[in-house]
Amino acid sequence: MKNYNLAVIPGDGIGKPMTMAAWDVLTKVAAQSGFSLSQVTFPWSCDYYLQTGEMMPADGIETLRPFDAILLGAVGWPVKVPDSVSLHGLLLPIRKAFVQYANVRPHRLLAGVEGPLRSPNFDILCVRENSEGEYSGAGGRVHQGQPNEVAIETAVFTRSGVERILRYAFEQARRRRGKLASVTKSNAQKHSMVFWDDMTDELSREYPDVEVERYHIDAMAARMVMAPASLDVVVASNLFGDILTDIGAAIQGGLGFAASANIDPHRNGPSMFEPVHGSAPDIAHLGIANPIATIWSAAMMLDHLGEHSAASRIMAALEKTTAQGVGTAPGKDKTDRIKTTVLAALE
Ligand code: IPM
Ligand code: MN
Repeated sequence: MKNYNLAVIPGDGIGKPMTMAAWDVLTKVAAQSGFSLSQVTFPWSCDYYLQTGEMMPADGIETLRPFDAILLGAVGWPVKVPDSVSLHGLLLPIRKAFVQYANVRPHRLLAGVEGPLRSPNFDILCVRENSEGEYSGAGGRVHQGQPNEVAIETAVFTRSGVERILRYAFEQARRRRGKLASVTKSNAQKHSMVFWDDMTDELSREYPDVEVERYHIDAMAARMVMAPASLDVVVASNLFGDILTDIGAAIQGGLGFAASANIDPHRNGPSMFEPVHGSAPDIAHLGIANPIATIWSAAMMLDHLGEHSAASRIMAALEKTTAQGVGTAPGKDKTDRIKTTVLAALE
Protein backbone atom coordinates (compact mmCIF):
# COMPACT_ATOMS: atom_id res chain seq x y z
CA MET A 1 0.00 0.00 0.00
CA LYS A 2 1.27 3.46 -0.87
CA ASN A 3 2.34 5.43 2.21
CA TYR A 4 2.96 9.15 2.52
CA ASN A 5 5.16 10.41 5.33
CA LEU A 6 4.09 13.83 6.54
CA ALA A 7 5.74 16.41 8.74
CA VAL A 8 3.14 18.09 10.96
CA ILE A 9 4.01 21.43 12.54
CA PRO A 10 1.01 22.52 14.64
CA GLY A 11 2.83 25.72 15.70
CA ASP A 12 0.99 28.24 17.86
CA GLY A 13 -2.50 28.98 19.14
CA ILE A 14 -5.27 27.32 17.17
CA GLY A 15 -2.64 25.60 15.02
CA LYS A 16 -2.70 22.54 17.27
CA PRO A 17 -6.46 21.78 17.28
CA MET A 18 -6.69 22.66 13.58
CA THR A 19 -3.94 20.24 12.52
CA MET A 20 -5.37 17.55 14.82
CA ALA A 21 -8.78 17.91 13.18
CA ALA A 22 -7.22 17.77 9.72
CA TRP A 23 -5.19 14.71 10.70
CA ASP A 24 -8.34 12.82 11.77
CA VAL A 25 -9.95 13.64 8.44
CA LEU A 26 -6.81 12.66 6.52
CA THR A 27 -6.44 9.27 8.18
CA LYS A 28 -10.10 8.46 7.62
CA VAL A 29 -10.02 9.36 3.95
CA ALA A 30 -6.74 7.48 3.52
CA ALA A 31 -8.27 4.31 4.96
CA GLN A 32 -11.24 4.73 2.60
CA SER A 33 -9.02 5.38 -0.40
CA GLY A 34 -6.43 2.63 -0.04
CA PHE A 35 -3.30 4.50 0.97
CA SER A 36 -1.72 5.10 4.35
CA LEU A 37 -0.25 8.09 6.10
CA SER A 38 2.50 8.31 8.67
CA GLN A 39 3.59 11.46 10.38
CA VAL A 40 6.09 13.07 12.68
CA THR A 41 4.90 16.03 14.73
CA PHE A 42 7.42 18.81 15.35
CA PRO A 43 6.90 21.12 18.34
CA TRP A 44 8.46 24.14 16.61
CA SER A 45 6.58 27.21 17.77
CA CYS A 46 6.87 30.33 19.93
CA ASP A 47 6.87 28.15 23.07
CA TYR A 48 9.74 26.18 21.58
CA TYR A 49 11.51 29.50 20.96
CA LEU A 50 11.08 30.53 24.59
CA GLN A 51 12.61 27.23 25.72
CA THR A 52 15.44 26.97 23.19
CA GLY A 53 16.04 30.43 21.71
CA GLU A 54 15.17 29.18 18.22
CA MET A 55 11.91 28.65 16.34
CA MET A 56 13.31 25.41 14.93
CA PRO A 57 16.64 23.63 15.36
CA ALA A 58 19.58 24.59 13.16
CA ASP A 59 19.08 21.39 11.13
CA GLY A 60 15.30 21.89 10.92
CA ILE A 61 15.24 22.30 7.15
CA GLU A 62 17.33 19.16 6.63
CA THR A 63 15.03 17.30 9.02
CA LEU A 64 12.01 18.28 6.93
CA ARG A 65 13.56 17.57 3.53
CA PRO A 66 12.81 13.82 3.27
CA PHE A 67 9.08 14.20 4.04
CA ASP A 68 6.49 13.94 1.28
CA ALA A 69 4.73 17.11 2.47
CA ILE A 70 4.41 19.46 5.42
CA LEU A 71 1.15 20.32 7.17
CA LEU A 72 1.47 23.52 9.17
CA GLY A 73 -1.07 24.99 11.59
CA ALA A 74 -0.05 28.54 12.44
CA VAL A 75 3.02 30.50 13.46
CA GLY A 76 3.04 33.49 15.78
CA TRP A 77 2.22 34.56 19.32
CA PRO A 78 3.11 38.24 19.33
CA VAL A 79 2.74 38.89 23.07
CA LYS A 80 5.53 36.37 23.70
CA VAL A 81 7.65 36.60 20.56
CA PRO A 82 7.63 39.39 17.96
CA ASP A 83 6.15 38.27 14.64
CA SER A 84 9.26 39.47 12.86
CA VAL A 85 11.20 36.84 14.85
CA SER A 86 8.75 33.93 14.79
CA LEU A 87 7.86 34.16 11.11
CA HIS A 88 11.43 34.70 9.97
CA GLY A 89 12.47 31.76 12.14
CA LEU A 90 10.02 29.16 10.86
CA LEU A 91 7.37 29.81 8.21
CA LEU A 92 9.33 32.03 5.84
CA PRO A 93 12.60 30.00 5.92
CA ILE A 94 10.63 26.84 5.05
CA ARG A 95 8.93 28.53 2.10
CA LYS A 96 12.31 29.81 0.87
CA ALA A 97 14.47 26.73 1.56
CA PHE A 98 12.15 24.39 -0.31
CA VAL A 99 11.60 26.90 -3.11
CA GLN A 100 7.86 26.85 -2.55
CA TYR A 101 7.49 29.69 -4.97
CA ALA A 102 3.81 29.22 -5.74
CA ASN A 103 1.42 30.19 -2.98
CA VAL A 104 -1.94 28.92 -4.16
CA ARG A 105 -5.18 30.04 -2.52
CA PRO A 106 -8.68 29.08 -3.68
CA HIS A 107 -11.52 31.49 -3.02
CA ARG A 108 -15.08 30.31 -3.42
CA LEU A 109 -18.11 29.91 -1.19
CA LEU A 110 -18.76 26.42 0.11
CA ALA A 111 -22.40 25.33 -0.08
CA GLY A 112 -24.47 27.05 2.59
CA VAL A 113 -21.84 29.65 3.47
CA GLU A 114 -23.06 33.20 3.15
CA GLY A 115 -20.28 35.61 2.38
CA PRO A 116 -20.67 39.37 2.60
CA LEU A 117 -21.34 39.80 -1.13
CA ARG A 118 -24.59 39.72 -3.05
CA SER A 119 -23.08 37.71 -5.91
CA PRO A 120 -22.07 34.28 -4.59
CA ASN A 121 -21.00 32.65 -7.87
CA PHE A 122 -17.28 33.29 -7.88
CA ASP A 123 -14.51 30.72 -8.09
CA ILE A 124 -11.08 32.34 -7.97
CA LEU A 125 -7.66 30.76 -7.71
CA CYS A 126 -5.07 33.23 -6.47
CA VAL A 127 -1.47 32.41 -7.37
CA ARG A 128 0.87 34.48 -5.26
CA GLU A 129 4.61 34.70 -5.87
CA ASN A 130 6.08 33.31 -2.67
CA SER A 131 9.86 33.60 -2.82
CA GLU A 132 10.98 37.12 -3.73
CA GLY A 133 9.34 40.42 -4.70
CA GLU A 134 8.55 42.77 -1.86
CA TYR A 135 9.34 40.04 0.73
CA SER A 136 12.84 39.36 -0.56
CA GLY A 137 14.34 40.36 2.77
CA ALA A 138 16.89 42.56 0.97
CA GLY A 139 17.45 45.84 2.75
CA GLY A 140 18.62 47.31 5.98
CA ARG A 141 18.24 49.95 8.64
CA VAL A 142 20.96 52.43 9.50
CA HIS A 143 21.43 55.33 11.94
CA GLN A 144 18.90 53.73 14.25
CA GLY A 145 17.22 56.19 16.57
CA GLN A 146 18.88 59.18 14.88
CA PRO A 147 16.95 61.85 13.00
CA ASN A 148 18.59 60.65 9.80
CA GLU A 149 17.52 57.04 10.33
CA VAL A 150 16.92 55.19 7.06
CA ALA A 151 15.04 51.96 6.44
CA ILE A 152 15.30 50.35 3.02
CA GLU A 153 13.34 47.30 1.90
CA THR A 154 14.19 46.33 -1.65
CA ALA A 155 11.72 44.46 -3.82
CA VAL A 156 13.52 41.89 -5.94
CA PHE A 157 12.08 40.64 -9.23
CA THR A 158 14.22 38.18 -11.17
CA ARG A 159 13.51 36.87 -14.66
CA SER A 160 13.57 33.29 -13.42
CA GLY A 161 11.37 34.15 -10.42
CA VAL A 162 8.75 36.04 -12.41
CA GLU A 163 8.77 33.59 -15.29
CA ARG A 164 8.20 30.53 -13.10
CA ILE A 165 5.26 31.99 -11.19
CA LEU A 166 3.60 33.29 -14.37
CA ARG A 167 4.12 29.93 -16.04
CA TYR A 168 2.54 28.18 -13.07
CA ALA A 169 -0.43 30.57 -13.25
CA PHE A 170 -0.85 30.07 -17.01
CA GLU A 171 -0.85 26.29 -16.46
CA GLN A 172 -3.54 26.61 -13.76
CA ALA A 173 -5.64 28.84 -16.03
CA ARG A 174 -5.34 26.25 -18.79
CA ARG A 175 -6.66 23.58 -16.42
CA ARG A 176 -9.54 25.77 -15.25
CA ARG A 177 -11.60 28.24 -17.26
CA GLY A 178 -8.75 29.58 -19.38
CA LYS A 179 -8.65 33.09 -17.93
CA LEU A 180 -5.68 34.75 -16.27
CA ALA A 181 -5.62 38.13 -14.55
CA SER A 182 -2.09 39.43 -14.02
CA VAL A 183 -1.86 42.05 -11.29
CA THR A 184 0.78 44.78 -11.03
CA LYS A 185 1.10 48.48 -10.37
CA SER A 186 2.99 49.25 -13.53
CA ASN A 187 1.54 52.74 -13.86
CA ALA A 188 3.46 53.80 -10.76
CA GLN A 189 6.27 51.27 -10.39
CA LYS A 190 7.99 51.57 -13.73
CA HIS A 191 10.81 49.06 -13.31
CA SER A 192 9.71 45.87 -11.58
CA MET A 193 6.06 46.01 -12.52
CA VAL A 194 6.62 46.94 -16.17
CA PHE A 195 9.03 44.02 -16.23
CA TRP A 196 6.25 41.77 -14.83
CA ASP A 197 3.87 43.04 -17.55
CA ASP A 198 6.50 42.39 -20.23
CA MET A 199 7.01 38.85 -18.93
CA THR A 200 3.24 38.30 -18.95
CA ASP A 201 3.11 39.37 -22.62
CA GLU A 202 6.11 37.24 -23.48
CA LEU A 203 4.65 34.10 -21.91
CA SER A 204 1.14 34.68 -23.22
CA ARG A 205 2.49 33.88 -26.70
CA GLU A 206 3.13 30.34 -25.45
CA TYR A 207 -0.40 30.10 -24.09
CA PRO A 208 -2.63 31.40 -26.90
CA ASP A 209 -5.53 29.43 -25.42
CA VAL A 210 -5.40 31.46 -22.19
CA GLU A 211 -7.15 34.82 -22.18
CA VAL A 212 -4.98 37.32 -20.29
CA GLU A 213 -6.10 40.58 -18.72
CA ARG A 214 -3.80 42.97 -16.89
CA TYR A 215 -5.01 44.84 -13.83
CA HIS A 216 -3.48 47.27 -11.39
CA ILE A 217 -3.59 46.13 -7.79
CA ASP A 218 -5.96 48.90 -6.68
CA ALA A 219 -8.43 48.09 -9.44
CA MET A 220 -8.15 44.37 -8.69
CA ALA A 221 -8.89 44.97 -5.01
CA ALA A 222 -12.14 46.63 -6.05
CA ARG A 223 -12.94 43.99 -8.68
CA MET A 224 -12.63 41.15 -6.19
CA VAL A 225 -15.41 42.80 -4.22
CA MET A 226 -17.56 44.20 -7.02
CA ALA A 227 -17.23 41.56 -9.76
CA PRO A 228 -15.49 38.46 -8.40
CA ALA A 229 -17.38 36.18 -10.79
CA SER A 230 -15.46 37.76 -13.67
CA LEU A 231 -12.20 36.27 -12.36
CA ASP A 232 -10.63 32.84 -12.78
CA VAL A 233 -6.89 32.65 -12.01
CA VAL A 234 -5.32 35.76 -10.49
CA VAL A 235 -1.53 36.02 -10.36
CA ALA A 236 0.31 38.63 -8.31
CA SER A 237 3.57 39.45 -6.59
CA ASN A 238 4.26 38.44 -2.99
CA LEU A 239 2.86 41.54 -1.26
CA PHE A 240 0.01 42.15 -3.67
CA GLY A 241 -0.95 38.48 -3.52
CA ASP A 242 -0.83 38.57 0.27
CA ILE A 243 -3.31 41.43 0.36
CA LEU A 244 -5.59 40.11 -2.36
CA THR A 245 -5.86 36.72 -0.65
CA ASP A 246 -7.13 38.35 2.53
CA ILE A 247 -9.83 39.97 0.40
CA GLY A 248 -10.42 36.53 -1.08
CA ALA A 249 -10.76 35.09 2.42
CA ALA A 250 -13.21 37.85 3.38
CA ILE A 251 -15.49 37.30 0.39
CA GLN A 252 -15.52 33.52 0.92
CA GLY A 253 -16.94 33.94 4.41
CA GLY A 254 -13.84 34.65 6.45
CA LEU A 255 -10.43 33.30 7.36
CA GLY A 256 -12.01 30.10 8.64
CA PHE A 257 -12.42 29.04 5.00
CA ALA A 258 -9.15 30.28 3.51
CA ALA A 259 -6.88 27.39 2.55
CA SER A 260 -3.44 27.63 1.07
CA ALA A 261 -0.63 25.64 -0.46
CA ASN A 262 3.03 26.62 -0.70
CA ILE A 263 4.14 24.61 -3.68
CA ASP A 264 7.39 23.71 -5.35
CA PRO A 265 5.98 22.61 -8.71
CA HIS A 266 9.28 20.91 -9.54
CA ARG A 267 8.98 18.73 -6.43
CA ASN A 268 12.63 18.97 -5.44
CA GLY A 269 11.56 19.19 -1.81
CA PRO A 270 8.35 18.94 0.20
CA SER A 271 5.56 21.44 -0.35
CA MET A 272 3.75 22.93 2.64
CA PHE A 273 0.02 23.24 3.28
CA GLU A 274 -1.40 25.70 5.79
CA PRO A 275 -4.55 27.67 6.48
CA VAL A 276 -4.27 31.42 5.96
CA HIS A 277 -5.75 32.37 9.34
CA GLY A 278 -2.77 32.31 11.66
CA SER A 279 -2.77 31.45 15.37
CA ALA A 280 -5.84 33.56 16.36
CA PRO A 281 -4.76 34.43 19.95
CA ASP A 282 -8.12 36.11 20.63
CA ILE A 283 -10.11 32.88 20.28
CA ALA A 284 -7.40 30.26 20.81
CA HIS A 285 -8.77 29.02 24.15
CA LEU A 286 -12.44 28.98 23.21
CA GLY A 287 -12.52 25.81 21.10
CA ILE A 288 -14.49 27.58 18.38
CA ALA A 289 -11.92 27.97 15.61
CA ASN A 290 -13.13 26.64 12.29
CA PRO A 291 -11.00 23.70 11.09
CA ILE A 292 -12.38 23.93 7.55
CA ALA A 293 -9.47 26.04 6.25
CA THR A 294 -6.94 23.49 7.51
CA ILE A 295 -8.96 20.51 6.28
CA TRP A 296 -9.29 22.19 2.86
CA SER A 297 -5.50 22.77 2.89
CA ALA A 298 -5.06 19.07 3.68
CA ALA A 299 -7.22 18.26 0.64
CA MET A 300 -4.89 20.44 -1.46
CA MET A 301 -2.02 18.40 -0.03
CA LEU A 302 -3.58 15.11 -1.16
CA ASP A 303 -4.19 16.62 -4.57
CA HIS A 304 -0.54 17.61 -4.78
CA LEU A 305 0.49 14.08 -3.75
CA GLY A 306 -1.59 12.70 -6.61
CA GLU A 307 -4.47 11.41 -4.48
CA HIS A 308 -7.07 13.33 -6.47
CA SER A 309 -10.13 11.29 -5.61
CA ALA A 310 -9.32 11.36 -1.89
CA ALA A 311 -8.95 15.14 -2.14
CA SER A 312 -12.33 15.36 -3.88
CA ARG A 313 -13.88 13.21 -1.14
CA ILE A 314 -12.68 15.69 1.47
CA MET A 315 -14.05 18.63 -0.48
CA ALA A 316 -17.40 16.86 -0.87
CA ALA A 317 -17.48 16.19 2.89
CA LEU A 318 -16.73 19.86 3.62
CA GLU A 319 -19.54 20.97 1.32
CA LYS A 320 -21.92 18.45 2.89
CA THR A 321 -20.99 19.82 6.32
CA THR A 322 -21.56 23.45 5.44
CA ALA A 323 -24.69 22.62 3.45
CA GLN A 324 -26.12 21.33 6.76
CA GLY A 325 -25.35 24.72 8.28
CA VAL A 326 -22.41 23.47 10.36
CA GLY A 327 -19.30 25.66 10.50
CA THR A 328 -20.80 28.27 8.22
CA ALA A 329 -20.12 31.39 10.27
CA PRO A 330 -17.33 32.49 12.61
CA GLY A 331 -17.74 31.18 16.17
CA LYS A 332 -21.06 29.52 15.41
CA ASP A 333 -20.01 25.95 16.15
CA LYS A 334 -17.33 24.29 18.24
CA THR A 335 -14.25 22.99 16.44
CA ASP A 336 -15.11 19.49 17.59
CA ARG A 337 -18.65 19.57 16.22
CA ILE A 338 -17.41 20.77 12.83
CA LYS A 339 -14.77 18.04 12.76
CA THR A 340 -17.18 15.25 13.70
CA THR A 341 -19.65 16.46 11.09
CA VAL A 342 -16.96 16.35 8.42
CA LEU A 343 -15.92 12.85 9.54
CA ALA A 344 -19.54 11.68 9.39
CA ALA A 345 -19.94 13.26 5.97
CA LEU A 346 -17.05 11.10 4.74
CA GLU A 347 -19.09 7.93 5.38
C1 IPM B 1 0.14 34.76 4.87
C2 IPM B 1 0.65 35.53 6.05
C3 IPM B 1 2.17 35.57 6.01
C4 IPM B 1 2.59 36.13 4.67
C5 IPM B 1 2.80 36.37 7.11
C6 IPM B 1 2.38 35.83 8.45
C7 IPM B 1 4.29 36.46 6.98
O1 IPM B 1 0.10 36.79 6.09
O2 IPM B 1 0.49 33.58 4.73
O3 IPM B 1 -0.62 35.32 4.08
O4 IPM B 1 2.49 37.30 4.41
O5 IPM B 1 3.02 35.34 3.83
MN1 MN C 1 -1.44 37.12 4.58
